[in-house]
Amino acid sequence: MKESTGNIGFLLLPAKWSVLPGVKNAYRKALQWSMGLLPLGVMLTAAAQFPRSITEPTAVDRGSKIWAKDCARCHGADAKGTNAAPDMIRSTVILHDRRENLRGKELAPFLKTSAPHNFNYSDKEASDISQFLSAQINKILRSGYNDKPQGLTSGDLEAGKAYFNGQGECAKCHSVTGDLAGVGKRYSPATLQQKIVFPQGGLGKKAPVEVTVKMPTGETVSGTLVSMDDFTATVKHQDGSVESVNIVAGSKVSVKNPYAEHEALVHRLTDADMHNLTTYLDTLQ
Ligand code: HEC
Ligand code: HEC
Repeated sequence: MKESTGNIGFLLLPAKWSVLPGVKNAYRKALQWSMGLLPLGVMLTAAAQFPRSITEPTAVDRGSKIWAKDCARCHGADAKGTNAAPDMIRSTVILHDRRENLRGKELAPFLKTSAPHNFNYSDKEASDISQFLSAQINKILRSGYNDKPQGLTSGDLEAGKAYFNGQGECAKCHSVTGDLAGVGKRYSPATLQQKIVFPQGGLGKKAPVEVTVKMPTGETVSGTLVSMDDFTATVKHQDGSVESVNIVAGSKVSVKNPYAEHEALVHRLTDADMHNLTTYLDTLQ
């Protein structure tokens, strides 16, 4: 469990804030839940005074894995929201769950039916997610909720550079004068950290997905994914032409996750590596 504690340690650092649709949404829900009209500060103070639910570390750990797999890409690795989805610390659903110690009883049906969610969790899984979020909120409230992330770029620049080109193997796929040129200008330090952990999350560049369809005849078609449903795969070839293939019984479709290697290397990052890398990448203006 050492590894996941380490990860959660740095995942808490990027205090991504002020995602307007999320904030608006939280306010709307807060109104419905009759906490409305209170200024945010009061709302958060109220949250801090909620009895702190006791969390069980092994359940939190299981929940953190479900979170990383199913929720983080929209709600952020640290649950503080992204451009795509609201901050959980302002979610009335989650605050209610935590305050009443519901252990996911209301969360499970919510995640099943409320768009864009379509998750079918067992009671135990929902309870694990609830435990993870409660622990996360406890931690955030305890450490103080800052508007602006502090000190994300106070690491060791040279160490970050050395890690990037050496042990971190970042330079295998990236170039600071190529694809990552100006990355510090494009992203805030907090977003940079999120991009290092979950490059596919939030807005910004998305890596192309390579698809190969092997027909029952043995013939294969491959290219960059344009769209796919149960019956047809549409791919784009290098020359720019687009081709649609019928997926029939016996066809084999393989989809390459372009983020797989990037995701794997994240497990090796220590808090210090993350801090140094962010400091270094932020200088790429
Ligand atoms: C595809 C992106 C996406 C994923 C994946 C996703 N969510 Fe959401 N979630 C959203 C959006 C967008 C909203 C806001 C919906 C609205 O305004 O009605 C939301 C709202 C919520 C809310 C309600 C917030 C409030 O205002 O009270 C909760 C709770 C929630 N999500 C939990 C989760 C959990 C837990 C997971 C993983 C099991 C998850 N979400 C996965 C996009 C996502
Ligand atoms: C095996 C290849 C690979 C390695 C190694 C790798 N990445 Fe990535 N990384 C990707 C891919 C693929 C993307 C998706 C976006 C793209 O195509 O640039 C990405 C995206 C990113 C982004 C977001 C870029 C943007 O413009 O949105 C950052 C920042 C990043 N990586 C940092 C790192 C750092 C830091 C390391 C080393 C610790 C690293 N990467 C190692 C493949 C890799």
